[in-house]
Amino acid sequence: MPSEALPIPGSSMFTVTVGFVNRATLDKDPHEVASMFDAVARRYDLTNTVLSLGQDRFWRRATRSALRIGPGDKVLDLAAGTAVSTVELAASGAWCVAADFSVGMLAAGADRPVPKVGADATRLPFDDGVFDAVTISFGLRNVVDHAEGLREMARVTRPGGRLVVCEFSTPTNGLFATVYKEYLMQALPRVARAVSSNPDAYVYLAESIRAWPNQADLAHQIADAGWSAVRWRNLTGGIVALHAATKPLR
Ligand SMILES: C[S@@+](CC[C@H](N)C(=O)[O-])C[C@H]1O[C@@H](n2cnc3c(N)ncnc32)[C@H](O)[C@@H]1O
Repeated sequence: MPSEALPIPGSSMFTVTVGFVNRATLDKDPHEVASMFDAVARRYDLTNTVLSLGQDRFWRRATRSALRIGPGDKVLDLAAGTAVSTVELAASGAWCVAADFSVGMLAAGADRPVPKVGADATRLPFDDGVFDAVTISFGLRNVVDHAEGLREMARVTRPGGRLVVCEFSTPTNGLFATVYKEYLMQALPRVARAVSSNPDAYVYLAESIRAWPNQADLAHQIADAGWSAVRWRNLTGGIVALHAATKPLR
């Protein structure tokens, strides 16, 4: 566990054991996923900003605003990585905790002033209903059993609490979708080779985005996991979608 991880009420902690692999296949194993993120952690924030052409900051602000959080709210930022997403959420005045199972990613964000917890999204170390809102940015696609992750997020959210999933999605314009697909498969791995410490991980990134469900299919999966009032909003022409939902009152 990284030294900056802090306990929070109703939580228990665990440590993940990681080994090194170059690249996770699309049939992901959770340990491979954690290792892959450990390997890219050091330059993760920079690589993200370069590959998204600076759009990542706009996507994070939109996520915070969609979550409708403020002072007095307790918020879980799941698969928070280096906690860059958590810091943006905390700017609302809410109390926000970063949870991730990559010790390397949490450690790379050690100087970010938010509490951090080592946690697997499919077995969250929190009691039922302790959070007012939960969110996951660019993380759900990487959770091997993401249906279980969505159910766990519902379990730890109070009735009436809110979910926002920020994730890569399907561009809505056909021509733009073709150009984007080319960028994903051709340019992105090349750019990653120049800036990332583990370019192969970005080949996985491109493949995993292509394999991910579109907006409507993900909305169905969120509803199936026990969330209500599921809706979505496209950002940057559908490159990213924000799915929002509410935990039913009963
Ligand atoms: C692309 S990063 C996103 C980090 C951050 N949310 C952001 O917006 O920059 C994906 C993160 O998901 C985490 N992750 C993947 N599967 C996970 C799981 N089962 N439990 C916890 N974290 C997981 C990885 O360790 C990684 O840090």
